[in-house]
Amino acid sequence: MVEQLVAWLRIPSISADPERAADVRRSAEFLADAARGAGFPRAEVWETGGHPAVFAERIEDPSLPTVLVYAHHDVQPVDPLSEWTSPPFEPVIVGDELRARGAVDDKQNVCMHLQAVRAHLAVGGRTPVNLRLLVEGEEESGSPHFDDLLRSHRAELAADVAVISDTGMLGPEAPALTIGLRGLVYWEVAVSGPAHDLHSGLYGGTVANPVLGMAALLAGLHGADGRVTVAGFYDAVREPGPEERAAIAAVPFDEPTFMGEAGSPAAVGEAGWTTYERRTVRPTLDACGIWGGYAGSGAKTIIPARCGAKLSARLVPDQDPDVIAELVRRHLLERAPAGLATSVAVLSRGRWVSAPTDHPVVQAAARAVAAVWGRRPSLVREGGSIPPVAAIAEELGLACVLFGVGLPDDRFHAPNERLRLEQLHRGVRAAVRLWDEVGALGPAVRQGANGRTA
Ligand code: BES
Ligand code: MN
Ligand code: MN
Repeated sequence: MVEQLVAWLRIPSISADPERAADVRRSAEFLADAARGAGFPRAEVWETGGHPAVFAERIEDPSLPTVLVYAHHDVQPVDPLSEWTSPPFEPVIVGDELRARGAVDDKQNVCMHLQAVRAHLAVGGRTPVNLRLLVEGEEESGSPHFDDLLRSHRAELAADVAVISDTGMLGPEAPALTIGLRGLVYWEVAVSGPAHDLHSGLYGGTVANPVLGMAALLAGLHGADGRVTVAGFYDAVREPGPEERAAIAAVPFDEPTFMGEAGSPAAVGEAGWTTYERRTVRPTLDACGIWGGYAGSGAKTIIPARCGAKLSARLVPDQDPDVIAELVRRHLLERAPAGLATSVAVLSRGRWVSAPTDHPVVQAAARAVAAVWGRRPSLVREGGSIPPVAAIAEELGLACVLFGVGLPDDRFHAPNERLRLEQLHRGVRAAVRLWDEVGALGPAVRQGANGRTA
C-alpha cells in the first residue's frame, strides 16, 4: 500500500498550474489502474472541461447499500520551494512520517479506501456494500467543472449515502468526524495608477500611489474589534444555539497546541468569540496575497504603476456566497482609492455544509472510528471548505459523512506536507469497519438527505 502511495505521490498533479496538466492526467490514469488492481471491476478516467476525474465502481449485490465516496487527486502548488527539506515530489519516509505534496491532502485518504477494499476481498471475497468512487482532479482549484460532471453522470453516481474523505481529525488520539464545513468566496483586486512606473522623486507627491491605495483599502476591511466592516456581511449568520454551544464546549480543543502548530505569536480575531469559535462558526475575510512595485534587493525609487491583491472569505450557515461576493465587491468599489482605477473579480465561490449528527451513516462512521481509536470521535465543524460537498448533498440528494485521517499539523498546503503512517493504517481499519457497519444497516441507511446547505 505504501509503495503504491509513494509512486502516486511522485506525480505532481498540481491542478492550478497549466504546465502540470499532463501530470494531473497521469495521476488520474495511475489511480484508475490502482482502483482496478484493488478490486473495482470498473475504473475509468472521466473527462471534464478541465482536469480529469476518476470513477471506480464495485457493485457487489444490487440489494446492498451503495456508497458514493468522494475525494480528490489534485494537489496544491509547492511554493515556496526553498522551505521544503526534501523535494515535494520525491516522497521520503522519516520515522512515522511520509513527506510529499499531496500526502495528507488528499492522496492518503484515497489510498485508505483502496486498501480497505483489498482487505475485504482478501478476507471475505466480497465487500459488504456497493461502492462508487469519485475522485476529482480540480478540488484545489475550486472544482470549476464539478457541477457539470455530476449532471452528466447523475445515473452512474446514484447512491444511498456519500462518504467524503478529504478532512482530518483533532489529534492522533483525538479522533473526529466532520459535520460542517465553511463556504468560500475568492476575489482578485486590481488597483492601477500611472501608465508605467514613475521616478518617485520626479512624480512623488503629485499622483496617487496604487500600493498605498490598496493598503488603505485592505486596512479598512476590519474594525479595531476584528469585525468585518462590509455592511451586511454578518446579516445571515446563524448564531450557534445552546445545543451547538454545548457541542463546541465538548470538543477537546487546546489553544496553546493550536497556536504552537500555527507558529504564530498571538491569537487575534473577532471580538467576543473564542479561537475555536472563530475558526468554526464565525465567518472571516482575509488577504491571501498582495503584490506591486519593487520587491527586489536594495532600493529602487519608484511610484508603482499597479498593485494587486487576492482576498478570501470563509462563510458559515446561512451566508450565501453569491450575496457575499457582491457585498464585498461593491464595498471595495465604493471605497476605491481616489485617483486610481480599481477593479474586483470573483474567482470562485463555494457553499458551506451542515450535516445532521443523528443520521445512521454518521453514527455508523462513529462506531467504526471508535472501534479502532478506542474512543468515540468528536463531531466537529471544520474551518476549511470542500465546495463539491454541497453539490453532492443537494444535486444527488445524499446524506454525507466526512471521514478523513489527516492531522491538524500535517501542513496542508504548506511546505513539508506529510501524513502519519499510523493514521493511515488506523484509517484503513476504520474504513473496513465502516463498510461492515453500513452494510449491516441495509435499507435503513436511506434516511433522508443531508442537512440544509446554502
Ligand atoms: N481538504 C481541504 C479542505 C479541508 C482540510 C477541510 C482540512 C477540512 C480539514 C481541501 O482540499 C481544500 O484545501 N479546500 C480549499 C477549497 C478551495 C481551493 C476552493 C480550501 O479550504 O481552501
Ligand atoms: Mn483536500
Ligand atoms: Mn486542499
